[in-house]
Amino acid sequence: MASPAAPAFAASAFATEADAASDADASDTASDTASDTASESASDTAPSAEPIPVRSPLPDGLAGRTALILGGSSGIGLAAARLLLGVGARPVLVSRDEGRLRAAAEGLGEPVRTFAADVTDEERLAEVWDAVGEVDHVLVTATDFFGPSPLATTGREAAEKAMAVRLWGAYAAARVAGARLAPGGSITYLSGTLVTRPMPGAAASLAGAGAVEVLSRSLAVELAPRRIRVNVLRSGPTDTPLLRQIALGDRSATGEEAEAALARAGAALPLGRFGTADEAAAAALFLMSNPFATGSVLTLDGGHSLA
Ligand SMILES: NC(=O)c1ccc[n+]([C@@H]2O[C@H](COP(=O)([O-])OP(=O)(O)OC[C@H]3O[C@@H](n4cnc5c(N)ncnc54)[C@H](OP(=O)(O)O)[C@@H]3O)[C@@H](O)[C@H]2O)c1
Repeated sequence: MASPAAPAFAASAFATEADAASDADASDTASDTASDTASESASDTAPSAEPIPVRSPLPDGLAGRTALILGGSSGIGLAAARLLLGVGARPVLVSRDEGRLRAAAEGLGEPVRTFAADVTDEERLAEVWDAVGEVDHVLVTATDFFGPSPLATTGREAAEKAMAVRLWGAYAAARVAGARLAPGGSITYLSGTLVTRPMPGAAASLAGAGAVEVLSRSLAVELAPRRIRVNVLRSGPTDTPLLRQIALGDRSATGEEAEAALARAGAALPLGRFGTADEAAAAALFLMSNPFATGSVLTLDGGHSLA
């Protein structure tokens, strides 16, 4: 039999710390508190939208949806586009270089819209959005490679450059998408396991990646009343042109020697290899499609953060 205190406990379990602090009687009058909480937050902010309806949490639930992929011409973004096409969604590829965009779209084998834009350029992103029309989900994978940035030789200007695309790209994407996504829409960012397992000489760029995780969680609470979800995929080392650039010094390195070198480097991970772009992209689609996912930082790293 339930104890008389059970309903109070059950209700307070879902109250926020701020609610609890502002209502000393929370534990005594839990049901009152629940309605007070609702009306307090309603008076502080715009009225909340209806909850996102329960629908399929599987990637198939993305069928017919449009996903803007900022960083879509390569690596994890391009793999996400391929997976999205496979579940009947409409990916739209955005990145800077028109030639690479064209080649990426041709490689997908189905008609896909592409737009050249720098993810840090908020005005241009808004233009792209207007040209696309209705967008349901945004995936932000855009990043630049800056090479090592040891503290001693990385002044402020260089440090700002090292984190600019990741951080200000994420912010510009949020500004544009946050104002335009409909309830149920989502933003998914990428960070990396180096955020929790840093390597020397990368402080500036990792500070940018860490900031994206905090930005994402902050936006998750800010945009939740509008039922817009925001999540991060914290990916481990993944075989993409970016990884080939870092590990082999050449984005497009191929051939036996390159594969052997990558296999040797990947063998250090607990699962014995680097991840594939498809594996990372599938995790991004999970965050995009699951209507109950927000504020999540999903680690997918072959055990890298444990090793
Ligand atoms: N691969 C890994 O091992 C790994 C590990 C952890 C985290 N991650 C993260 O995963 C994300 C995707 O990485 P990836 O490996 O897929 O990289 P990638 O293969 O180098 O792809 C990056 C994409 O971003 C675009 N891009 C770069 N700067 C841009 C800008 N300013 N504006 C618009 N687009 C821009 C690139 O195209 P253009 O150059 O033509 O613009 C390209 O399409 C990144 O955030 C990365 O840090 C990757």
